[in-house]
Amino acid sequence: MCGIVGYVGDRAATPLLIDGLKRLEYRGYDSAGVAILNGKGIETRKAAGKISRLEAVLASNPVSGNSGIAHTRWATHGAPNECNAHPQMDCRGHIAVVHNGIIENSTSLKARLVELGHKFVSETDTEVLAHMIEEAFDGNLEDAVIEALWQVEGTYGIAVVSSDDRDKIVAARKGSPLLIGLGDGEYYVASDASAILSQTREVVYLDDGDLAVLTKDGYRVIDLRAKDLERTVHKIDWDLSQIERGGFDHFMLKEIFEQPETIENCMRGRLLDEEGTSKLGGLNMTDEELLKFDNIVITACGTSWHSALIGEHMLEELTRIPVEVEYASEFRYRNPIVNDKTLCIVISQSGETADTLAAMREAKNRGARTYGIVNVVGSTIARESGGGIYVHAGPEIGVASTKAFTSQVIALALLTLKIGRLKDVSVVRGKEIIHALRALPGQVKEILDRAAEIEEIAEEFKRAQNFLYLGRGYNFPTALEGALKLKEISYIHAEGYPAAEMKHGPIALIDEMMPVVFITPHDSVFDKVVSNVHEVKARKGKVIAITSRDEPSLVGMLDYEFRIPQTVDMLTPVLACIPLQLLAYYIAVKRGSNVDQPRNLAKSVTVE
Ligand code: G6P
Repeated sequence: MCGIVGYVGDRAATPLLIDGLKRLEYRGYDSAGVAILNGKGIETRKAAGKISRLEAVLASNPVSGNSGIAHTRWATHGAPNECNAHPQMDCRGHIAVVHNGIIENSTSLKARLVELGHKFVSETDTEVLAHMIEEAFDGNLEDAVIEALWQVEGTYGIAVVSSDDRDKIVAARKGSPLLIGLGDGEYYVASDASAILSQTREVVYLDDGDLAVLTKDGYRVIDLRAKDLERTVHKIDWDLSQIERGGFDHFMLKEIFEQPETIENCMRGRLLDEEGTSKLGGLNMTDEELLKFDNIVITACGTSWHSALIGEHMLEELTRIPVEVEYASEFRYRNPIVNDKTLCIVISQSGETADTLAAMREAKNRGARTYGIVNVVGSTIARESGGGIYVHAGPEIGVASTKAFTSQVIALALLTLKIGRLKDVSVVRGKEIIHALRALPGQVKEILDRAAEIEEIAEEFKRAQNFLYLGRGYNFPTALEGALKLKEISYIHAEGYPAAEMKHGPIALIDEMMPVVFITPHDSVFDKVVSNVHEVKARKGKVIAITSRDEPSLVGMLDYEFRIPQTVDMLTPVLACIPLQLLAYYIAVKRGSNVDQPRNLAKSVTVE
């Protein structure tokens, strides 16, 4: 992933493509490139880093032609360097591909292509596509793309050009957005309308399974059996900033709503249903090695620290290995008990947080095996850790972390499943967890469809000065995360507490002015939390409860209730945090805060 733009027509393609890429910059990326059909062959220019670096490359080594494709890459396979930047080419340099998404079976496809004599230069899954199209090519580009796509598992939005079937772009979509822009004697393809909006407002959105063939004389949309399809032409009347946010008012809201997809992405290709376990490609450890650890230390900051607390609970429950969670900033200056029998898990969305990085280095120096749970591919933590899981949440722009958090929890669940199954967890239990994991994207969607219910609660409490969030067990960290979300973006003071600890202090704060959010799904500590709800109600506090079913013990006790679907205990935080993210969001909007860039906060804290 991240941005695609393509052009075919009579004008100079390079400046149009660069302009399109720049309009996609807001999405975040780490390298960029173009491939231009120059009348004879394909010329590519690529650069790691910002588009301005690609422009500098083009200034010193220009390339011109009337059709081409371009890409901004946000690394998912392989470091963000020039070689891994798209477009990716086939062996002869006659086919160029840009791709968003993940080819899940790229390893096996690559092995087959290597056997057939194909030479690979990058670490990307995308390059596999280029070689597969080369293998299938027989004079007609769309036929070759179709043949290749039949063999592919995973998600893609692609645009392909070939110097052997010139002045044509073939684009295809499965699970990764793509649209065609219609001009006068010229056509565009883009992953996002903002890339082409300055040129045309007439677009055709491709559906999953669609393939489009563009030449300057027209376009066709066909399916993977080459049958022609009818697709409606839409007129875009949004402005650019609305489009960048996918129609949402803020990136944060967009990212909250992306979670059904990002959770799915984190699990994609990693669940072994029959064995009731997970498969983690980046582990770099044998099963024997995984079993040799005496203890696990998880270190992180901010929201990532909250997912670490959930991970601690999961790992201890299912693997029986002692786990300790440390703020990275504390860990690095203590004298932690860490040695070569310690597995040190480092969690970071950005992979660049200075304290987390330093903590990881400290653990490494003391002989621990380090393992990263990271979103940004090729980031320092990802590179320096001995192995890890990429959470595949995609670029997170909103400063307050949302989709990265749920993906971190999923990644921890996958790791827990892996180690747990190697130890005492039965296949039946493993399958039960997998079943619950598979249900999550749909359940999250169900919650998001009822966002308006949360907005009503937000309206009621938008003027509150303080908030208390209470939960137990797996949902004590959810309470911390809910409180953090609220304070980060609404600037309301909020505290998260283990529900039963309330009576040791926070209870003194409770009166009719104090909203108390209880995270109380029906799990193993449900009955315990009910008593705490009664204690708050007895002191006239306002109770907002996240529950998961009808409970006689709560009748008359709740001022506001939001239901989440049932799941296994260890995954309840994934569902319970969604209404909390929405609550924070709506309250902040109603108070007029700058939701995406709250005051004093930074997305990536690269200083101590
Ligand atoms: C900053 C961000 C938080 C984030 C924390 C850790 O404080 O504002 O949203 O949770 O850093 O960042 P990391 O990238 O290491 O997860």
